[in-house]
Amino acid sequence: MSKNIKNICCIGAGYVGGPTMSVIASHCPEIQVNVVDVNHERVAAWNDKNVINLPIYEPGLDKIIEKCRGINLHFSTNIEENIAKADLIFISVNTPTKTKGIGAGQAIDLKWVEESSRIIAKHARDFTIVVEKSTLPVKTAQTIKDILEATSKNKDEKFYKEFAVLSNPEFLAEGCAIENLENPDRILIGGSDKESVDALTKIYSKWVNKDKILTTDLWSSELSKLTANAFLAQRISSINSISALCEMTGAHINEVAIAVGTDKRIGSSFLNAGPGFGGSCFKKDISNLIYLCNHYGLNEVSDYWQKVLDINSWQQERLIEIISKKMFGTISEKKIAILGFSFKANTNDTRESPAIYICKKLIEEGAILYIYDPKVSNQQIDKDLGNTQKKESNIEKSCIYSSSVEQAVSSADAIVILTEWDEFKKISWESIYKTMRQPAWIFDTRSVINIKKLKNKNINIWQTGFGI
Ligand code: NAD
Ligand code: UGA
Repeated sequence: MSKNIKNICCIGAGYVGGPTMSVIASHCPEIQVNVVDVNHERVAAWNDKNVINLPIYEPGLDKIIEKCRGINLHFSTNIEENIAKADLIFISVNTPTKTKGIGAGQAIDLKWVEESSRIIAKHARDFTIVVEKSTLPVKTAQTIKDILEATSKNKDEKFYKEFAVLSNPEFLAEGCAIENLENPDRILIGGSDKESVDALTKIYSKWVNKDKILTTDLWSSELSKLTANAFLAQRISSINSISALCEMTGAHINEVAIAVGTDKRIGSSFLNAGPGFGGSCFKKDISNLIYLCNHYGLNEVSDYWQKVLDINSWQQERLIEIISKKMFGTISEKKIAILGFSFKANTNDTRESPAIYICKKLIEEGAILYIYDPKVSNQQIDKDLGNTQKKESNIEKSCIYSSSVEQAVSSADAIVILTEWDEFKKISWESIYKTMRQPAWIFDTRSVINIKKLKNKNINIWQTGFGI
């Protein structure tokens, strides 16, 4: 018999907490779902009547919010009250890389997870299931258990408290989060308390086929999430490393990817060469894996995964060199249009976006950037490039935001495509090229352009992995 869950609280109304809880609420109308956050501004945006102002852009999210918000889906800063009411609490807070102290640059900063555990320990009542949704180092569940048990065993506590801790990592990818949540490849639940595992399974089985719900032990569940991200990132570094060889030899990376990916054992997804992977998780999760391996003395294993990160940085460095080389070795005072700033298409997220590093370097070289992204706000770009711009004597001159592709590219010396937005795939490159200052270059890092169609059109195009 599984415990009947009537009230869920999710700590963290971010890119994971918001969409995941929305989908749960939409499939479980009998459950009240409260998403809580310390960030008042973010909660206010989740509650904005106009769904265009939601804090994150995800295709399909607005429809679910319109359907459930105020009925069984609520966003609030009232953390304590919602914890006290909950039968099940998801911890979906940020887990960034530590910036100082032991393990800086590699280990995960568990500050927010620890804070969440302490506040749960203090305010939860009766029996509560606590679920790790954040991506965490192996054995973090033990830390959470220790914090919770220290309180539940305290005889001075006014209320009876008992906890079960589960791991339920999230595998959604931004830009297709709703699609991934609605139809996941698998749901992974780690934990030893059978009743609690059954209770969580019951929630997911409202819309996910039972054979896709995998149950395992806590440590395997935690490690599977880090490993899945490491494997995905490794594929990108693998294809990017071969893209460089294609450019040297005259082979074409997209042709190679098709030929290789047709092998069922390899598979065709995640073989798109580009400017290197971005996003808030790949780098931090691989860094964490490296840290864990070093901690256990597995230096060869950590060196292996370090190379995946090294190739990713190298890919960006070599792109900057190619741009400069093709533009007669200098980009100083030249107008460069940047098309796309988010770390991938269909999201307004810029965390660890390759565009940040590439733009900073181009600005350092003296280029004047005209940046256009359909979903990223000017304020966000400003924040991301902030430090670089301050170094410049003339801020206005080094980076200008454009409200359309046409505005960004007009009389530009070069275009650099950094995100694969659909809008860019529809551009008539022949007409755009005519509006540029000649001799102009188009650097397509994302294979957005059908380069074969433009053969013999006298357009200078460079594409990642396209050997001439
Ligand atoms: P996020 O930064 O968008 O959201 C985290 C939220 O938690 C923030 O709004 C923050 O204010 C809130 N928070 C932090 N401490 C809190 C506290 N004590 N009380 C209340 N609120 C608190 O992060 P995210 O992208 O949603 O990622 C969350 C976790 O999920 C991370 O561990 C990440 O690795 C993992 N993950 C992310 C993705 C993704 O696509 N972004 C996918 C899978 C897993
Ligand atoms: C990734 C994983 O795909 C999710 O399963 C995981 O849940 C999530 O990380 C997480 O833990 O945060 P996400 O970072 O949102 O999701 O997006 P991806 O589609 O994985 O793209 C990551 C980066 O790799 C992007 O910069 C993307 O452009 C790049 N990429 C992806 C490529 O360069 N080539 C590809 O073939 C695929």
